[in-house]
Amino acid sequence: MRVLGIETSCDDTGVAVYDSDRGLLAHKLASQLQTHGPYGGVVPELAARDHIRVLNPLVSLVLDESGGRHVDGVAYTVGPGLASALLVGAAFGRALAFGWGVPAAGIHHMEGHLLAPMLEEDRPEFPFLALLVSGGHSLLVDVQGIGLYQLLGTTRDDAVGEAFDKTAKLLGLSYPGGPAIAQAAQKGNPDRFHFPRPMTNRPGFDFSFSGLKTYARNIVEGLELNDQTVADVAWAFQDAAIDTLIIKSLRALDAHRHQCLVIGGGVGANIELRRRLGSLAKSHGFSLYYPRSQFCTDNGAMIAYAGWIRLKGGQRDRLGFSVRPRWPLTDLAPIA
Ligand code: KG4
Ligand code: ZN
Repeated sequence: MRVLGIETSCDDTGVAVYDSDRGLLAHKLASQLQTHGPYGGVVPELAARDHIRVLNPLVSLVLDESGGRHVDGVAYTVGPGLASALLVGAAFGRALAFGWGVPAAGIHHMEGHLLAPMLEEDRPEFPFLALLVSGGHSLLVDVQGIGLYQLLGTTRDDAVGEAFDKTAKLLGLSYPGGPAIAQAAQKGNPDRFHFPRPMTNRPGFDFSFSGLKTYARNIVEGLELNDQTVADVAWAFQDAAIDTLIIKSLRALDAHRHQCLVIGGGVGANIELRRRLGSLAKSHGFSLYYPRSQFCTDNGAMIAYAGWIRLKGGQRDRLGFSVRPRWPLTDLAPIA
């Protein structure tokens, strides 16, 4: 089965074709960095307009590259995300499926992230613990199978990616903040600042990241912001954010007797997070899976893959469509 996947939940237009026999045939991403960069964050209306502009040519390119115009199904993100941006991909995808006479499947963006490691050769097997960390979510999920998701922990305020973005902004770094902080941190002095590890001394698996941003602001206010100070604050912020994610993940692995940890979402591209988890996996004896960096951040491949899984499982969306800007992952139906 060959599935076209369309992702437009935020500021990246992602398109891909996944073939259940041959794997990923083609994938492309149109980034809107230049559109939103000057605003230091995503402007929803501009995001939607950019999706409209690039979607048609991008789909054409990807179909050509996949070796043919025939697909057996179309999948598109219907939530969670920015309503106006979601509407573009959902309307386009649903219309294509109708025009081609093939089934359509609206996909949950975070299920896309959760399944993205399955695009790699070395893939996890159920059950596992998933740490999903993006610009909008910080989730620890017990995953027993497709749609069998139990939410163990979530953020009480900012998502971890959002905290990276906001801290980067106050340090005068470019958007998106995650990669900018990671880069600045490389030259940071590890001994200059120490940030707290929020909520780690409380039981449970919930996160809270807005305090880290405030902590950074308080430090920065009393200082001259030269390159070294930016690097030092970036290092200390990243250290605390990563440490917090790791402490809670290890706790959840232990409490729920999981031997496998799966990472997904944009913050999963963070090299330092991967490095530390990699050595902990060895010392603690759990297996660790994540997609290549470009499939951690938003992309069409994960939507095409999740689309194949859902279509294979019998999902058939009606002709009308709607988007779900807020949509708990735990609302998804299990499939056999
Ligand atoms: O999954 P994603 O591409 O979009 C959402 O679903 O939100 O995640 C974007 C988030 C942004 O907050 C971005 O700053 C963060 O992921 N991010 C990173 C890195 N690359 C992207 N955070 C830390 N380190 C990175 N290398
Ligand atoms: Zn995402």
